[in-house]
Amino acid sequence: MSDAILELPKSSLRPATLDDLDAVSEIESRVHLAPWTKANFEGEFSKPYSKTWVLTDDETDTKILAYCVFWAMGESLEILNIVVDLPYRGHGFAKLILQSVVREGLKTQAKHLILDVRKSNLPAVGLYQRAGFAITQYRKSFYSNGEDAYHMSLELDGELLDF
Ligand SMILES: CC(C)(COP(=O)(O)OP(=O)(O)OC[C@H]1O[C@@H](n2cnc3c(N)ncnc32)[C@H](O)[C@@H]1OP(=O)(O)O)[C@@H](O)C(=O)NCCC(=O)NCCS
Repeated sequence: MSDAILELPKSSLRPATLDDLDAVSEIESRVHLAPWTKANFEGEFSKPYSKTWVLTDDETDTKILAYCVFWAMGESLEILNIVVDLPYRGHGFAKLILQSVVREGLKTQAKHLILDVRKSNLPAVGLYQRAGFAITQYRKSFYSNGEDAYHMSLELDGELLDF
């Protein structure tokens, strides 16, 4: 086994294009129990309220380190998905994306950010709790495999939270 330490590429967040979706759906198929298909991601492009952002390396702008999908719908901004590809986890990329999404919520005058997350998904629940989200509902058998969800919410009060 190699002891090489992964060098983190310099990276930036930008709106996704259709050209990103092969790589995004490939990552998605590896990390989620019920992954979205490429067609699901394509479908988001026709919804005016839906945003897909990708975090890519600055050198080629094609390597996808992470991505997120959210719906900005007036007072509510709903996060549907935040994924950091396995080699890049634990370096603050999800936190960076979440901070940018909060900033977008403030820009669009959202009053709260909401999301559903699998009860067993401790890294994601930890990420959202650390950002100040509270569990506001328990959704029994919410997912297709019967798993329960936490519905979580973050109230925005006009300033970017430091988390
Ligand atoms: C959840 C996920 C996005 C976190 O990405 P990440 O880049 O590793 O997270 P970060 O390094 O930005 O960590 C931010 C905070 O999240 C929490 N967190 C991250 N990984 C965690 C873990 N394994 N266990 C508990 N908390 C964790 C911590 O509070 C962390 O803050 P800290 O490092 O200051 O303690 C990543 O694990 C992932 O892609 N999981 C698969 C996809 C998924 O389930 N997405 C959520 C669906 S909505």
